[in-house]
Amino acid sequence: MEIVDKTGTCNLDYNRVCKNGFCFDEVKKDFDWYYTGQVNIAHETIDRHANSWRKNKIALYWEGPDNEHEKYTFMELKTLTDKFANVLKMAGVKKGDRVFTYLPRIPELYISAISIAKVGAIFAPLFGGFRAEAVRDRMNDSGAKVVITTPEMKKIGIEEIQSEVPSLEKIILADVPESYKFNDNELSFDAEMTYAPEECNMEWCSLEDPVIMHYTSGTTGKSKGVVHVHNAMIGHYITTKWVQDLRDDDVYWCTADPGWVTGTSYGIFGPWLTGASQVVCSGRFSPDAWYSAIDKYKVTVWYTAPTALRMLMKAGDEVIKNYSLRSLRYITSVGEPLNPEVIRWGMKVYGHPIHENYWMTETGSNMIANFYGLPLKIGSMGKPFPGIEAAVVDDSGKVLPPGVPGNLVIKPGWPSMMRSIWNNPEKYREYFRIPGWYVTGDSAFVDNDGYFWFTGRVDDVIKTSGERVGPFEVESALLEHPAVAEAGVIGKPDPLYGNIIKAFISLKSGYEGSEELKREISGFVKTKLAAHAFPREIEFKAGLPKTRSGKIMRRVLKAQELGQPLGDLATLDDE
Ligand code: WTA
Repeated sequence: MEIVDKTGTCNLDYNRVCKNGFCFDEVKKDFDWYYTGQVNIAHETIDRHANSWRKNKIALYWEGPDNEHEKYTFMELKTLTDKFANVLKMAGVKKGDRVFTYLPRIPELYISAISIAKVGAIFAPLFGGFRAEAVRDRMNDSGAKVVITTPEMKKIGIEEIQSEVPSLEKIILADVPESYKFNDNELSFDAEMTYAPEECNMEWCSLEDPVIMHYTSGTTGKSKGVVHVHNAMIGHYITTKWVQDLRDDDVYWCTADPGWVTGTSYGIFGPWLTGASQVVCSGRFSPDAWYSAIDKYKVTVWYTAPTALRMLMKAGDEVIKNYSLRSLRYITSVGEPLNPEVIRWGMKVYGHPIHENYWMTETGSNMIANFYGLPLKIGSMGKPFPGIEAAVVDDSGKVLPPGVPGNLVIKPGWPSMMRSIWNNPEKYREYFRIPGWYVTGDSAFVDNDGYFWFTGRVDDVIKTSGERVGPFEVESALLEHPAVAEAGVIGKPDPLYGNIIKAFISLKSGYEGSEELKREISGFVKTKLAAHAFPREIEFKAGLPKTRSGKIMRRVLKAQELGQPLGDLATLDDE
């Protein structure tokens, strides 16, 4: 089924701008640095608008978990981020330092992101769902100097590991209750802001200086730090304009948390680079809370994810009747495949199709999309964004004919491509294992019209509720439980979550596999590693399939689980 969406006025001419790099060069003129030579993503995101007719425009509508709400103009955000940049400087932060945020979606998170960039440091946002071990590993890998958090989050994620992160010099605490007693290495966000000077000297950078680092998961090893540079703003900006179709009179809501790349590229930088007003809701997901946010702020453009949409669909059409939702003009989705029936349902209840797009932490911005102006093909990820060259190739790099699935690859060199994996050049090189291409790790096929269709992951990376989880990290956490001898973790398809995490465990002698033990082990991972990366399903097994060198064969576990052929078992250890 093909739908031509005619809701907008953007006149993107795909064929005109399709030549590699063309549109990226064209939009450079929209940035101040093109004329001044002075580069900083924070300037283009906030200060540029504060110096323009947009200065009194609302940049941020914030909706708290208990109906609190606040709003900030571009001018107010400029002042606040100038002040907090000064606080960071006083805390010793210098160009290139890694500054983490471990915060709920409160205004301080957004102020921190911009301020960190203003001092030339690297903004490393941690998802609030992470717990102590995950926090420790990420901070240590990057040598975190400062973390901005709240007393509540500090207690669940930082306190017990603080002494194991030697590089950490200061903790800046937001949202502090009056009774709180500060330690020597702690500063109060609010108190420091009262005294901080309003004048801030922006640290001008080069387009290639790092500014954002997201930790994300692969198949092997612990989470890796994906480094993005100021130049990424070109990708954030142009795709927000053309994929999200954002215009000046829009009110935009990206539901993602900045702990994930969608929440920074399209929940901080992209929309503000275009000068749009954006909504941030910090509460938990509920259909009522979400729909009332759309009505309250008259959201026009909404960027969300398949699991959320499936949950909304499951909540039924009745709940929608309590809301108008008439402000909605354009809806987009990312993170995992979007079921065609969800798009059809969306057309019925929201009156608009949902435009799916595809990208990943490493690519920094949308790569393939049902972008504005392109006839939407339900079930497909869309076409490569103008300036992006994508292909489906076999392992030797040969381009495959339409309809044949293979490795989804992208020609390197787009502006928002990651520039390194922190401290790990080897891991970075692995992305370029097929000569001439950036290898996504996904498989796909192209149809006769040039649309790309997702077929799966090539590796063992798990997508659960759209969140990316590395099996190795979960297995490592499982092995720390006293009862666990061996663990293998896979993603098991699930109608609501896309996948759930399933763990196969062999127990140490003396332990009985019981339902109670399953619950205990799940809870153990939840509190140690992450609230979102725990196994929802556990199966005890006498032994796990391994290679002769002792590596657990997740592929075999998965095939057994799904009742699929086991494939090549030449390396399987018979015992
Ligand atoms: C998956 C999220 C199917 C894919 C922005 C990719 C998708 C991974 C889609 C990146 C889509 C993203 N259809 N799968 N439209 N979009 N993915 O780094 O496996 O958290 O490699 O970035 O999500 O996840 P990440």
